[in-house]
Amino acid sequence: DWSMDDFIDEQIAEIRAKVGNKRVLLGLSGGVDSSVVGVLLQRAIGDQLTSIFVDHGLLRKNEADEVMAALGGKFGLNIIKVDAQERFLSKLAGVSDPEQKRKIIGNEFIQVFDEEASKLNGIDFLAQGTLYTDVIESGTDTAQTIKSHHNVGGLPEDMQFQLIEPLNTLFKDEVRLLGEKLGMPHELVWRQPFPGPGLGIRVLGDITEAKLAIVRDSDAILREEIAKHGLDGEVWQYFTVLTGVRSVGVMGDGRTYDYTLAIRAITSVDGMTADFAKLPWDILEEISRRIVNEVDKINRVVYDITAKPPATIEWE
Ligand code: XMP
Repeated sequence: DWSMDDFIDEQIAEIRAKVGNKRVLLGLSGGVDSSVVGVLLQRAIGDQLTSIFVDHGLLRKNEADEVMAALGGKFGLNIIKVDAQERFLSKLAGVSDPEQKRKIIGNEFIQVFDEEASKLNGIDFLAQGTLYTDVIESGTDTAQTIKSHHNVGGLPEDMQFQLIEPLNTLFKDEVRLLGEKLGMPHELVWRQPFPGPGLGIRVLGDITEAKLAIVRDSDAILREEIAKHGLDGEVWQYFTVLTGVRSVGVMGDGRTYDYTLAIRAITSVDGMTADFAKLPWDILEEISRRIVNEVDKINRVVYDITAKPPATIEWE
């Protein structure tokens, strides 16, 4: 009879035995998996854990502050936050191909992490939030090759660490349960999936800070409305996409020629297939009205009514 409490005790004992009095490094992404690993390790080895959180500037509104407050504050993790927004933006300038954007973001991420890690002394272990499904999927290369997802195996090559992967026997729902057992806040544990390249693949085509601001602000409005109407449990993933399309509109007495924003909201079990969420019209109407009123340069909002397949969940 397997219980999560036993799992926690076993893992803590195992981690302590393995680590001894040595130091462990963890890369925090803000996602559920690395956060749970952080809290578990903090409980097991306390200050022997150092975490690095790279802010690549492609996170959602307030996300970096929320992660720092939740994990650094309440749980007392020792987190080195790296503000690398400008570095990422300049590397991405003028690049519009989705796969190239992913590669640049992935490579830059490893480089920034590597640089920070090499400033630290006496680290023997690297902790990762690898799940059971990651272990299985990286053994085959089927669906993963459709888009070069880079959240698995993105390790600096010349680093000599021993790995600690306490979640590698768990499925996602078990990781969430573990997070709750560890006393982590509901919003952190039940977060919707967020891609490693972040908002970088939600600005279609080339990325600028002005375009990122549009996605960030509209995404914040969408999330606020979904939460306000209690839909966050039903919808698996929801976000906005800045299309490159500009169209004519009318605002007051004037003609506008501004961007079209798309809303993507889907239901799914595992992200492999998905249906578009049948959100109530009046909620969509309110979201659209708010976005057009509150976000500069948007004069039209469309709702993506495509399933996966044939579309993917993200637009890039
Ligand atoms: P797609 O768009 O392929 O997305 O239907 C399936 C799920 O994967 C997420 N996704 C990514 N996650 N790096 C990630 O870590 C990526 O490059 C990436 N691309 C898509 C997407 O948000 C959805 O949950």
